[in-house]
Order: sequence, then structure tokens, then C-alpha cells
Amino acid sequence: MTMTRRTHMCGEIVSGDIGKQVVLKGWVQRTRNLGGLIFVSLRDHTGIVQVVFDTTTIAAYVFTLAESLRGEYVIEVKGTVRGRAPEAVNPKMRTGEIEVAAAVLSVLNSAKTPPIYTDDNANEQESLRLKYRYLDLRRPSMQAMLRFRHQVIKSLREYIDQQDFVEVETPILTKSTPEGARDYLVPYRQKPGLFYALPQSPQIYKQLLMLAGLDRYYQVARCFRDEDGRADRQPEFTQFDMEMSFIEPEDIQTVVEGAFQHVFREVMGLDITLPLPRLTWRDAMARFGSDKPDTRFGMEISDVTETVRGCGFAVFENALAEGQSLCAICAKGAGTLTRKELDALQEYVKTYHVKGLAWAIPNADGTLRSSFAKAMQGDSMSRLLEKMDCKAGDALFVIADKRLVALTAMGQLRLKLGRDLGLVNKEHYDLLWITEFPLVSWDEEDKRYVAEHHPFTSIMEEDEALMETDPIAVRAKSYDLVLNGIEMGSGSIRIHQSDLQSRMFSLIGFSPEEAQEKFGFLLEAFQYGTPPHGGFAFGIDRLVMILAGADSLRDVLAFPKIQNGVCLMMETPGTVQQEQLTQLKITVDK
Ligand code: AMO
Repeated sequence: MTMTRRTHMCGEIVSGDIGKQVVLKGWVQRTRNLGGLIFVSLRDHTGIVQVVFDTTTIAAYVFTLAESLRGEYVIEVKGTVRGRAPEAVNPKMRTGEIEVAAAVLSVLNSAKTPPIYTDDNANEQESLRLKYRYLDLRRPSMQAMLRFRHQVIKSLREYIDQQDFVEVETPILTKSTPEGARDYLVPYRQKPGLFYALPQSPQIYKQLLMLAGLDRYYQVARCFRDEDGRADRQPEFTQFDMEMSFIEPEDIQTVVEGAFQHVFREVMGLDITLPLPRLTWRDAMARFGSDKPDTRFGMEISDVTETVRGCGFAVFENALAEGQSLCAICAKGAGTLTRKELDALQEYVKTYHVKGLAWAIPNADGTLRSSFAKAMQGDSMSRLLEKMDCKAGDALFVIADKRLVALTAMGQLRLKLGRDLGLVNKEHYDLLWITEFPLVSWDEEDKRYVAEHHPFTSIMEEDEALMETDPIAVRAKSYDLVLNGIEMGSGSIRIHQSDLQSRMFSLIGFSPEEAQEKFGFLLEAFQYGTPPHGGFAFGIDRLVMILAGADSLRDVLAFPKIQNGVCLMMETPGTVQQEQLTQLKITVDK
């Protein structure tokens, strides 16, 4: 490392340096005053070194100055590296065999007593950590995180650069892009009433770059979405965004897989086997009840609709009569669940819009604890248990509802049980592609079809005829990458023909006028020779979160926002001057 105005970094001085004169700069982690001796732990981002001020060997004024040192003072020390006495060696510290006998001390800056501790042992409240983020970032784990994030992005750039992709920055002040979230709007001073939107992603720009003949584009792109915060969602986040011309899904998937393999190898020292597994959306829903399945454990869902037909249990029979589905899972080893815990699971699944949860637990003596066994006639219960391979000590769960509703709730129950039963191997990284998503879904509230991905997503050629007759059955040429049950990224082959694009707009309820107003420039652009193209984008924050073993994006961003989009440190959003509002002709109705 190139040193500026210091000879060594604090955390890098080792016994090989004994006898050397050093100049160090950093922060006081703590001081211990033993009378004639003052020990100062001096910290920079590389670690801590012990500095000793000995009243018998240094000038009195230096010692007096050392006595004034407090936590987080910024100092410069000149001194000599020496070995520690054997009993003072600290094997836990890289610098534990040495100390620096100080000769000269300069206080570069004093510090108020910090409101939070800057070491990793301190268990500070998160809100306080975020309010004083600049102090929180002094903690070794946060320093390591920022550097880790840098390594991830650096290795991604390295890889993509070798694949002849060109990074192009696209505007932040733009028009709304249809990624499905609410836009952040920026008023346009010169014509009150007009607004820019911050990009939800560079989607349209990257397609236009293909039209422009760029062939392979990428960008480490900032994106903005005004949606409710969650552990894996921030209002502003970073995508690794890509687009390619003249390709099929496998081409971009190969590039993305290569990028992930490279990052895992370079940053984690792990090898990923390629190609990654692929699962169609239909299969993912049927087996895991999720379009982002956590495949680190089994407990797959089975369809038991036919198994229970004629069982006599009114709830199941009524569901069958209404054309609904029944799905089940067998949780191995969950037979110890108490009645209270089972009731809690029932309440849990209800939050996913199903009416209830039927359960059965075979006892070792051949009897059964169950919420519904009594109502099951003939051998229907034993048939069900047999089909699900549910034995003594296991627990069987059944949900009846509309197929996707039942599967989704069961998928959530599977995840909860997987976590509760400790089935998730946290050391394991499970990456897979989910393909062939539905093109559209039906929005019950708005009574219209909505694009599942975005309205530029192309379709499987064989489904084109269904676009007007059975839109729900149309499969998109889209693909998501899932890592450990979290959506890493998504992409698709795009529509590049303006007539198909118009059909898509009309399917999702845009009148030709609306389509023209919103995307007229794009529809026009498509008429000037658009190459077939497609792309992908993945969330860098999410990738770093998983690789770093963090639970929230807040832990892997330098300056994150909390749940409601607020930055506790800057106190943003904040008020602005009345004069600014006047210029923008904005009146605030509180
Ligand atoms: P999509 O909307 O699926 O696709 O976003 C791609 C990836 O971006 C990440 N992501 C987020 N990360 C943190 N906070 C958020 N609020 C957030 N929203 C999304 C996720 C997600 O998988 N333009 C398309 C891509 C394409 O078709 O090429 C797009 O943006 O990891």
C-alpha cells in the first residue's frame, strides 16, 4: 500500500518491524494510564497497535499531552517498534507481539465523547448507529463490509469488461420507467406542473442503446423506487444492469452465470458449478409455492387434490366442488409441535389469504393427533399419509384454496418450518434460474391485466396466438435468478417489433393514446430498425447482503434509509426554503 505521510498502517506492524522508526496516524481507541506509563490503542482501518508513552524516556510535555488523550482523538505518533514482554503478548491481535515506544506526539484533532462506541463488541441500538453512521462506519466490521462490497463490484466489472461490455451512464432525471413501483418525482422549475421522474431502472435507455448499435451494455446503475422498505428493499439501490443484442435467453444467462462464478471464486473462494439449474415458473410454484424458492432444503409441496377426492371431509369436498386445489407438505420431525404452536401456524398461513390449515401428526402407537382426521372417511386419511410419506414423528399440513393462493400460502409455511426446524444450511449458496414466467397477471383491484415483469418483455413464440384469447396462459421470455430464496435479478428478451409492443400495451389496458403519450418515443424508435435484444439486472446490494451473511440491506450500505425511507443521519427528507417552493410554484397542503 502507498503510504502518505506515515511509514506504516497501525494494523500492519509486526515483529519483523522491531527496531524501526515509525510515523503513525489514526484514532485513539482507548487509553490506560498506569501512572508513569500510558498505553494508547491507536486505530486506523487496518487495525490497532499499542503505543506506549513512558515518562522516564520521553519529554515531559509529550507525556503531559499523552495524558490529555481521549477516545477518538486524531493523533500522529513518532516512535520505535519494540517487542512486548512475553507476558504482555496478545495472540489475538495481529500486532500483539509488538508495541510502539512513542517519542513524539501531535494531536491533530480532539473529539467530543462519541455517542456510540466504535468497536464491534458494543451492542448499540440500530437507530443510534444510523444517526451517527459516520462513527458506526469506524467499526472494524463496517470497514470490512465497505471493502468487501468494493471487491464484489470490482470483480463484476473485471469480468464484464472481459466480455466486451461497455459501461454507459444513463440519466437520473428522466421519465417514469414502468418497473411497477411508485416514482420519485422532481419538479421542473421552468415549467411548473412538469416533472422528471427518477429512474426505477435504466430499462428504456438500455434498450435504446441496443437500437443505437452498442451491442453489449452494462452499468452499475442507481435506481429509485418509492415503495415500502423491507429487509431486502431500499428506496434507492444499485443494480448491475446489462443488455445485449442478437441473443436468446441462454446467451445472457451464460454471461450472468459467468459473472456470478467469477465473483464467488474471487471474493468467496468458492466454485459454482455451471450451468445453474433451471426451473420453470410453473414447476417452482408447484414444488415450492414460490417464484423464488429456497432450494437449500426439501419439504417440497405435493398436490393431493386427487388423493382426497371422496374423503367426506366437508372443507375439502367443498373446495373440490369449487374447482379449488389441495396441496400438502410433510414436515419431517415436526411431530413435537404443540397445539399452541400448531394454532400459531394456522394464524400464520391465514395472513396469506387462505381460510385455514389442516394438520395431522401420527403418533408412534399408531394413533393420530389431527385437526381433521375425524371427518375423513374410510381409508382416505391413511391414503393421504402414505402419499405424503408422513410417519410417526412427522407433521402433515394441508391447504385447500384456489391453486395459486393455496400454493403461495403453503410455500410460506414451508419456509417458516424450514427456518424453525433448522433445515436451512446457512453455509450453502443455492443459485438457480426461474424461467417462463407468466406474461401478465390479473389485477383484481384494478380489474385489468398487469405486466408480470415489465411491458417490454417478449413472449414464447408458441404462445403468441393466446395473447388476445387466453392472456394468463401466455409465457414470457423472462428469467429470474434466485439465490438462497431471494430474487437476485431478473431479465427478459424484449419485444423489438412495434406492432407486438402495441398489442402488449393494449393487453395491459393502455389505450393507443396513453401508450403514445407515455412511450411514443419508444414506439417510434422501434420503427427504425431495432435489433432483437434482451438483458438482465441484478441487485448488487442483495448480492453483497447474502455473501456477507447480513440480514438486511441496511448492513451493507454506507448510508441506508430506514423502513419509511428516512435517513436518520441527514434527517432527509427535510423541509426546503419557502423561496424554493415559490420558484417551483408549489404550495404545500399539510
Ligand atoms: P427488477 O425490477 O426485477 O428488474 O429489478 C432487478 C433487481 O434489482 C433488485 N431490486 C432491489 N434491490 C433493493 N431494493 C429495491 N427496492 C429493489 N428493487 C429491485 C433486485 C431485483 O431482482 N429493468 C429490469 C431488469 C431487466 O429486465 O433487465 C429490472 O429492473 O435484486
